[in-house]
Amino acid sequence: MNKIDLRSDTVTLPPQAMRDAMYKAELGDDVYGEDPTVNLLQERCAQLTGKDAALFVASGTMGNLTAVLSHCQRSDEVILGSRSHIAIWEQAGAAAFGGVSLRTIANEADGTLPLEQINLCINEDDPHRTQTRLIALENTFNGQPLMPAYMRMVKELALQNGLAVHLDGARLFNASRVLLASIDEFTAHVDTVQFCFSKGLAAPVGSIICGNHEFIAKARRVRKALGGGMRQAGVLAAGCLWALDNMVERLDLDHALARQLADGLAQIPGIKVVPAQHRTNMVFFESDRSDLSRAELARRLRDIGVLVAVEGQLGIRAVTHFGLTAEDIEETIVRVEDLMAVAVH
Ligand SMILES: Cc1ncc(COP(=O)(O)O)c(C=O)c1O
Repeated sequence: MNKIDLRSDTVTLPPQAMRDAMYKAELGDDVYGEDPTVNLLQERCAQLTGKDAALFVASGTMGNLTAVLSHCQRSDEVILGSRSHIAIWEQAGAAAFGGVSLRTIANEADGTLPLEQINLCINEDDPHRTQTRLIALENTFNGQPLMPAYMRMVKELALQNGLAVHLDGARLFNASRVLLASIDEFTAHVDTVQFCFSKGLAAPVGSIICGNHEFIAKARRVRKALGGGMRQAGVLAAGCLWALDNMVERLDLDHALARQLADGLAQIPGIKVVPAQHRTNMVFFESDRSDLSRAELARRLRDIGVLVAVEGQLGIRAVTHFGLTAEDIEETIVRVEDLMAVAVH
């Protein structure tokens, strides 16, 4: 039985043409700023996001950490969602390595942070308190795109309070495709952004942070201190450039596969699918039967070759990505249907 891996869009393997581009990349020492392929990628991403400059980093986690440490001093505070990746999946690196306090607000189901809550969390200038420096948003959030209009309101609030806004845009291209909005329509409302090449865009490694010259100069120092100064990194950057040229529009297919999966699963008795206003590449579901916990269902799915992740709040997570076909999704639906039919009797 073939395995259908829906755990994450990080499991993709680079296609041959991407590998060829990586093999042929022109290289130099990027710590000296001399890798032409890294430089080209950084210029393209700065342009794409409407920022002055960009910095190639090893991962989304490193991008977010570098960004927060570049915005904040020790005992500064960042306001962010309680279910955001930075808050719960990055070992609180900003606190661990930079002494930065993470002030969390419960995310709404659509990923937004209520503006009045953000406002309440901004500390007044008082020696008892941390200094609020930064608001961090995430787009997409569990597959939900944040609207540019909402991001504009957050940016206005930040401006009124002298704060910066950082965007964890690990899957920003998914938001861009599903909302038919260009990348800079989102990034116009943030000071800095991190996005990943190694998720839906299917590159093996790499993320980028973009911002103004001063921020990127600081970030370059922070990245080096974190051990992220890479040398002939153009090998990796070439894969990312190839992904920008070839893998962005095809995200629509991932979104179509996710809709196919959600629609199919919703027809199966005993399966509940979490509705999505704009479906990108994630489907969350669970069984409404008390004898089939999320963990148990995920385990039984694994036994029949369907690999999924369990997300604390939303249920079982299935992510569509490069390499999957409509037949794989159809097969997944059939296997879940069979599993539920057997489980009932
Ligand atoms: C929203 C979000 N931000 C950041 C990251 C971190 O990316 P990486 O795994 O490259 O460190 C992830 C990874 O899944 C993510 O989903």
